[in-house]
Amino acid sequence: IVLDDSGDDTTSDGGVTGVGDIVHEGLRNLEYRGYDSAGVALVGASSGLTVAKRSGEVDNLTVPDVPDATLGVGHTRWSTHGPPTDANAHPHTDCAGDVAVVHNGIVENHEALKRELSDHKFTSDTDTEVIPHLIEAELAADPELDLLDAVQAVEDRLEGSYAICAVRETGDRIVVARRGSPLVLGRDDDATFVASDVTAFLEHTRDVMYLEDGDVAALSADGVEIYADGDLVDRGVETVTWEADAAEKGGYEHYMRKEIHEQPESLRQTIAGRLDVDAGDVELDVSFPPGFLADLEEIQIVACGTSNYAGRYAAQLFEELAGVRATVEIASEYEFGAGRTPDRTLVVAVTQSGETADTLGAVRRANAAGARTFAVTNTLGSTVTREVDGTAFIRAGPEIGVAATKTFASQVATLAMLAVAVGRDRGALAAADARSVLEDLQGLPGAVQQVLDEEPQVREAAREYRDSEAFFFVGRALGVPVALEGALKLKEISYDHAEGFAAGELKHGPLALVTPDTPVLAVLTDGARADETMNNVTEAQTRGAPALGCVSDGEEYNTLDVSFDVPDVGIVEPLVANVYLQLFAYHVANEKGRPIDKPRNLAKSVTVE
Ligand code: AGP
Repeated sequence: IVLDDSGDDTTSDGGVTGVGDIVHEGLRNLEYRGYDSAGVALVGASSGLTVAKRSGEVDNLTVPDVPDATLGVGHTRWSTHGPPTDANAHPHTDCAGDVAVVHNGIVENHEALKRELSDHKFTSDTDTEVIPHLIEAELAADPELDLLDAVQAVEDRLEGSYAICAVRETGDRIVVARRGSPLVLGRDDDATFVASDVTAFLEHTRDVMYLEDGDVAALSADGVEIYADGDLVDRGVETVTWEADAAEKGGYEHYMRKEIHEQPESLRQTIAGRLDVDAGDVELDVSFPPGFLADLEEIQIVACGTSNYAGRYAAQLFEELAGVRATVEIASEYEFGAGRTPDRTLVVAVTQSGETADTLGAVRRANAAGARTFAVTNTLGSTVTREVDGTAFIRAGPEIGVAATKTFASQVATLAMLAVAVGRDRGALAAADARSVLEDLQGLPGAVQQVLDEEPQVREAAREYRDSEAFFFVGRALGVPVALEGALKLKEISYDHAEGFAAGELKHGPLALVTPDTPVLAVLTDGARADETMNNVTEAQTRGAPALGCVSDGEEYNTLDVSFDVPDVGIVEPLVANVYLQLFAYHVANEKGRPIDKPRNLAKSVTVE
């Protein structure tokens, strides 16, 4: 926020508050985006720059009383680089404590930039901290520069997707920049606001301007200047009509739908800076003892629910890409069996929360047996990360809906990168083959977006079939875990009976349940042995079942009642097909008025065995 000269602002309900309180309240409104730490930087004409930050929830933070403050920025953190500590909390400052920056997103080239800034003193593990130091270097190199010039210069050096807000001890404005991560501006009679989400300041104003990628803006008591490629631009004012609760969900009625729609962006974060397509390599920042991967005999994946299905997808990739036997076990059933060789086994725990008791139990059994353990998780600092030998983070961002959606996609993408890394290390995967997988992964965010654009077609299908007696989901190969996941999603949020099967199994029993009132949803893409699956679908259709299929672009199965088009992305096509199944589950449940984000009897994180 930037206040005009008055030093305070009036809210829509008539309350009057100062900068510190307004920033603190804005952070409370955005807290659902990250609970790891919170911090503020306040600037006043005579008090200069005051920074306060603290690990934990927003209410742990005491915002200092700075009566003359007219500028303030704040941040709640969801950790990507470095655990949730006081030192890693934002804002981050330069050596002199003259510049303070808050940042969302990932600076992919932060390691290289940090090396360049070897004469600067860094105090955190974050990627963010390079930004204030780069600004400091720009300002030192040319004292004529102001903060806006410096941020514009620094922006050219940053790789990745981000949103940043910067203030200066002696400054009278906030400079912000957007590339990839959202930023929205607001304006009322006494103040100018900027935030990653309108919820932060909705009680002050509903008149907003959305910044576009590449925009840099300066906010001062005189108003806002927005620049694109160095030219002043006008972004146009829109009026937000949502209520606060809807705004928190980005205008969506449910977190689940919001999170389904976030997948292009969350997948971009998952792969950011990790793919070296030309070299056919990935950089996951994980290491194993010398020779361990070469001698590896088996990968055992342990996980529950949706994470287990991500593991099933990955097991096939490990076998195909890394040439190593891979098994998947339900974590609560896992024992380290006799006849296995712990020193040549890698046990991979897949867990979004990092807190699932069954999965932690499996990790403990694997550790006790002497196996090497590894976690794939969304949550920095979670229990699983403290109990394994190594971790890869999926970087999907906070997932609030109980039904896992974007974390499933990011788990599979991360495990696919791990499979490539292991395959390359073992010499099992040629560079050209690796390149083709990495190109598929690169195409994933765009392909998911194409599917999301087809949502009206899925909603229509959900309306047509919502009252069916039961639903069957089928696939083969990589389509099996997706069929299982599609059924889990539907039963979890709609309370309808849904089952997933390997398509070939239909005829070995489940076919007895098939009637004209039991639609079959099939994964008919690359990587899922589509033609063979279609034969099984036809067997169900012959018994009267309606059939809906997710079909690779360019292919056609004329007998399907509904055909959803899946863009061509090779090995991750079944994962893209899953987005149709997520939308189908969502719309069936929504048609029935179910409490989608908090289905009965379920919890987001299951911390009991
Ligand atoms: C799926 O929608 C569920 N939320 C559930 O199956 C979940 O995947 C499972 O409880 C495992 O959770 P975790 O990934 O946090 O370990």
